[in-house]
Order: sequence, then C-alpha cells, then structure tokens
Amino acid sequence: MYLHGTSTINDLGHLTIGGCDVTDLKAQFGTPLYIVDEQLVRQRSRQYMEAFRESGLKFQVAYASKAFCVMAMCRLADEEGLSLDVVSDGELYTALEAGFPAHRIHFHGNNKTPDEIEMALEANIGCFVVDNFTELQLLNVMAKQRARKVNVLLRVTPGVEAHTHEYISTGQTDSKFGFDIGNGTAYEAVQQAAKADGLDLLGVHSHIGSQIFEVEGFQMAVERVAQFTRQVKEQSGVSFRVVNLGGGFGIRYTEGDTPLAVADYVKAITDAVKVHFANWNESLPEIWVEPGRSIVGDAGTTLYTVGTVKEIPGVRKYVAVDGGMTDNPRPALYESRYEALLANRANEAAEEVVSIAGKCCESGDMLIWDLSLPLVQQDDLLAVSCTGAYNYAMASNYNRIRKPAVVFVQNGQADLVVGRETHQDIVGKDVIPARLQKVLVSQ
Ligand code: LLP
Repeated sequence: MYLHGTSTINDLGHLTIGGCDVTDLKAQFGTPLYIVDEQLVRQRSRQYMEAFRESGLKFQVAYASKAFCVMAMCRLADEEGLSLDVVSDGELYTALEAGFPAHRIHFHGNNKTPDEIEMALEANIGCFVVDNFTELQLLNVMAKQRARKVNVLLRVTPGVEAHTHEYISTGQTDSKFGFDIGNGTAYEAVQQAAKADGLDLLGVHSHIGSQIFEVEGFQMAVERVAQFTRQVKEQSGVSFRVVNLGGGFGIRYTEGDTPLAVADYVKAITDAVKVHFANWNESLPEIWVEPGRSIVGDAGTTLYTVGTVKEIPGVRKYVAVDGGMTDNPRPALYESRYEALLANRANEAAEEVVSIAGKCCESGDMLIWDLSLPLVQQDDLLAVSCTGAYNYAMASNYNRIRKPAVVFVQNGQADLVVGRETHQDIVGKDVIPARLQKVLVSQ
C-alpha cells in the first residue's frame, strides 16, 4: 500500500498515522474506525490556496463538504480559509453548528426545497448556485419577500463531459443539473436572473465530473464558459464577476491512478482563464473552485479487524472484516479499487493473495479483490487507504450495522470527531405503535 501523508511503519511493524500507532487507536476507539490525517487535509487545503495566490487572480476555494461533512471538518476548512459548498439542509446545519462563517457558504443542489432556501436565507449565506428555472423564480420571490437581494451563480452545463480518460463534447445536455449553454437555456436564465429584483447575479458555475486526471476537460470548460461570458456581455450587456469551475480533481487510490499535483491543476485552470478571458475587453473574473475528494480523500484510512477466513481450495481465500459496504459503498457502487495493508504486521512480506469481504448479508459486499498480504489471521488489523472522501459521507446502516467512529490524528494525538453509533442509536427513531406492542402476560 502506498503510504499517504504522515503514514509510516514504526519499529514494531505497525502502521502509524499522524504519529499514532493504529494498534493503539484500535485499543482506544475500536474498529472499524475512520482515521483522518489532519496534517494532510491542511496540506491539501494550503496547496490550493497557495497555487491560487500565485496565479494573481481573485479566488475562493470552497471545500465540497459532500465528500466528508462533519463539524470538525468544517472547523478545519474554516481555519484553512476555505469556503464551503453545501447541498442540503443537513450539510448547511452541520456547517452553521460548527460556526462556519455563513458568508463563505455556497448552496448547491438541483432541488432545494422552500424550507432549505428559507434556512439559507435566514442564515445569510454567501451565495446560491441556482440550478433551474423553478428555483430561480422561487428564490427571487422569497428574497423579495424579505426585501433582500441574494447573490447567485447560475449552474451551466458547458457541454464538456469529463470521464477519467476521455472527453465527450456536448455530451452533457442530458443532465439533471444546470442550464445548458448549447441550447440557449443558459442565456435565457441569465436574462431572467439579471432582471430579477431579488437576485444579484454574480456569474456562472460549471462542474464537469469527478476523479478527473487530465486538465484538458477543465481547459475546455473554461473556454466554453469564457465564450458564453463574452456572448452574454455583447448581446445583453450583463457581465460576470465570478466564474466557479467546480471540483473533480482526481486522487491516487491505487497504483494505476495518475493524478496531477494540486498546483498543476490550479495552474492549468488559471492559465486557461487568463488566455480565454483576457483576449477581449473585460477584467478577469474571480475564480472559484470546489474540490472535495482531493482535500480529504487520501487523508482518510479505514481500520478494520479481520474476523473469519474462508478458503475455497483452488478458487480463492475470502478474508472478512468487521465493516464493508456500510462504511465504504464505493466498490459495490462504482467498482472502485482500493489498496490495503496488514496494519499490525506491515513489514512482513506478502505470502498470499486474498479477497477482502465485508460482513453484510450480500455477495456484492466485497471491499478488495485479489490483495497480496502476509498470511492473514483472525484479529489482524487491515488498513484500507484513501477512504477520506465519500466513505463516511455515504455510509449506511444496512443490516442495522452501526456507523463507525471517526478520529482526527496529528502529532501523536487522536481526537474523536464522530462517536461510534450505539445500539440505541440504531433503534432510536423506531416507534412501535400501541397496537403492536408486546403485551406482557402476568401469571
Ligand atoms: N462541485 C459540484 C457541483 C459537485 O457536484 C461535486 C461532486 C463537487 C464539486 C466535488 O467533486 P470532487 O472534487 O469531490 O470530485 N459519490 C461519488 C462522487 C460524487 C461527486 C458528486 N459531485 C464517489 O464516491 O466517487
């Protein structure tokens, strides 16, 4: 397994993260356990901030909290000077409870409910990223009712669909998100927003995909958005002060993944902005981005305890751990691949190839196929790397399995940031109607 951030192997052959021996973390917090390398989160945040500072452009880096949204993470993002992208009242509530400054919160989503809009207006958040005409009209009405003018970006689909290794132009018209540039909808949305008394149209937003390695997709999106900006200015006199280019910057999960350094993604984008916006008479817009995965992804490790081992002679050996698709649904959902090591015997040479199974009652609950490990035994510790993004965030209680605890580690110190769910949490919202209650018959 590739060792990310502060991860090392100590003299005992144990994996350590943030100066904490994972065998101690197991003793203190139990398993499965999400371990977040705080220093690496801060380092990634600073890489974005520094690269943008170097570009000389005005900017905001908004952490896409959907990747991992808990109050302590909102505190880290705030301390690092990031803005925050939220997509639901739950993420918004988490951020506000954590004391995240409302004016640096951006609200996304293709179906913001009136209640969510009200909550965000009440909190005075920095910006709404408006996704469709229904929302545009509703937000305008609700803002006017409060005699307010709220900042908006319009989410546009620039016609660039980025897959990890290919780009399909004009492939994005068929998307549930945003106003399409190609069919004129985005232009119409700009006209409506510019006229709306309750809205202050800051500019546009575009997000082309996730876990993207090459810069070409981002550069194409910049070019399309710049052309659109120019068209809007020339045909209707409306100028954009802000262009948000979304997130999607890839990270290294396994050997085959070849992401660029954060600074290189930022440079490619900011250079493209300078090229495509500077060749006509308009000042450069402020550039916002929304990285999620690339801020927290490689800072997360999930620690499991090995339970049962099943060998099918001549076929394969299944090693089952005490978690699985409930704490990491990504292999089952996206066939995502992960690396792992035996965290209590990390110096031992690999001796066998095993497959790591979760404990859910479902054959598809497999975390890693064909992993080379030393001879695995019950009670060994397995550490799966790069689980910081979209793992805790997408965890479920399938099979009524309790969600694990989350700890932040740094400088030899481990701090609990989310407690492990209890059995009481599992039944906490259950209600047995009176007619179904068990009647105790006394003798
Ligand atoms: N901005 C917008 C508008 C987005 O839709 C997303 C991700 C981001 C920013 C952040 O993208 P990132 O930098 O994290 O790639 N559950 C999937 C990922 C879904 C991403 C959805 N949108 C996964 O586990 O891979």
